[in-house]
Amino acid sequence: MADIMSSRCVALLLLVSVAAQAASGVTDGLLPNGNFEQGPAKSELNGTRVTGKNSIPNWEISGFVEYIGSGQQLDDMILPVPGGAWAVRLGNDATIRQQLSVTRRGYYTITFAAARTCAQADTLNVSAGPESGVLPIQTVYTSSGWDSYCWTFKARHSTVWLSIHHPGHEDDPACGPLIDSIAIKTLRSPPRPKGNMLRNGDFEEGPFIFPNTPWGVLVPPMMEDVHSPLPGWMIMSDTKVVKYVDSPHHVVPHGSYAVELVAGRETALVQEVSTTPGKWYALSFSVGDAGNGCQESMIVEAYAARSRMQVPYSSRGTGGSKRARLEFAAVDKVTRVVLQSDNHHMKHDGTLCGPVVDDVSLVSVRKHAARRLL
Ligand SMILES: *[C@@H]1O[C@H](CO)[C@@H](O)[C@H](O)[C@H]1NC(C)=O
Ligand SMILES: *[C@@H]1O[C@H](CO)[C@@H](O)[C@H](O)[C@H]1NC(C)=O
Repeated sequence: MADIMSSRCVALLLLVSVAAQAASGVTDGLLPNGNFEQGPAKSELNGTRVTGKNSIPNWEISGFVEYIGSGQQLDDMILPVPGGAWAVRLGNDATIRQQLSVTRRGYYTITFAAARTCAQADTLNVSAGPESGVLPIQTVYTSSGWDSYCWTFKARHSTVWLSIHHPGHEDDPACGPLIDSIAIKTLRSPPRPKGNMLRNGDFEEGPFIFPNTPWGVLVPPMMEDVHSPLPGWMIMSDTKVVKYVDSPHHVVPHGSYAVELVAGRETALVQEVSTTPGKWYALSFSVGDAGNGCQESMIVEAYAARSRMQVPYSSRGTGGSKRARLEFAAVDKVTRVVLQSDNHHMKHDGTLCGPVVDDVSLVSVRKHAARRLL
């Protein structure tokens, strides 16, 4: 009798907790089994290849998916796994997906770690419901081989399938990227602070960064600002990124986050803002280094309307920053504010690096002296 009672209790508790989970949806952080520490049974593996569609708890797979242990030899390389001891490798036309409970019309950012193995020009197609984005992952930015990437979607329904697909057309069907540590974060629309015409000028709102990943998160090319993991900002580039860095692992000029320009002139950080033609504005920002050993002579270039300026910064790689200010007269109703690094920089260990920008603000100014120049 006691047994029956207690098992009923357990069943009821389970029901209640399942219902609570469904109602509250995802929470910020690692997805269920997002680091693949729970793996397939031995019987569902052929060598490293996962054979069953539902063999990896919480995930559904299709195509050539392998379950890879940390330190396992892959072709001619050995990669330690960042999140625990296991990761998956997506071969040609392979997909992993998981169903998420989300808030309809909410914005979410996915962060995951990827490491390229033998394929050359690799991309990943990340999708959630009807929205998808193709992330170029051919450049390795971090010397460990692992880079974290992010991608944002707007939830069209209260449940969505999040999937990561590797199109892959390699001769070796197993050649593809390793994936690990998949997390989610609800994006807030940052309020426009008083006295700043820019949104998220301090970069305090952005993608999830794992407390144990010291290398920041790469924000891929993003030609629109609504779906940007860095709300307000666009990343203009063909295939390159900017790096979102956090204060626990980097020196940031202001607040808890900043952006490191790691791809030279191949990437521009851009925000569009409403302006009045003929009126004068002042763009101010911090230029510095992330204190990550990037010891280089750097130049950040800023553009707005017909004005531009170069801000030289001599980095000792130990952290530090200075302010810069660019005044310009708007020529259109919308002005693009652009920040760019003039050069590529690399640390001794091969990690790509560059100047950090932070605390960007735009205000309108009265300008008497300059009027004479017009
Ligand atoms: C395992 O994979 C090999 C190579 O693709 C194949 O020949 C073999 O039949 C597979 N074994 C099982 C049990 O499916
Ligand atoms: C990416 O995946 C989505 C969902 O499967 C698909 O609709 C879209 O066409 C794919 N994009 C590319 C460029 O293959």
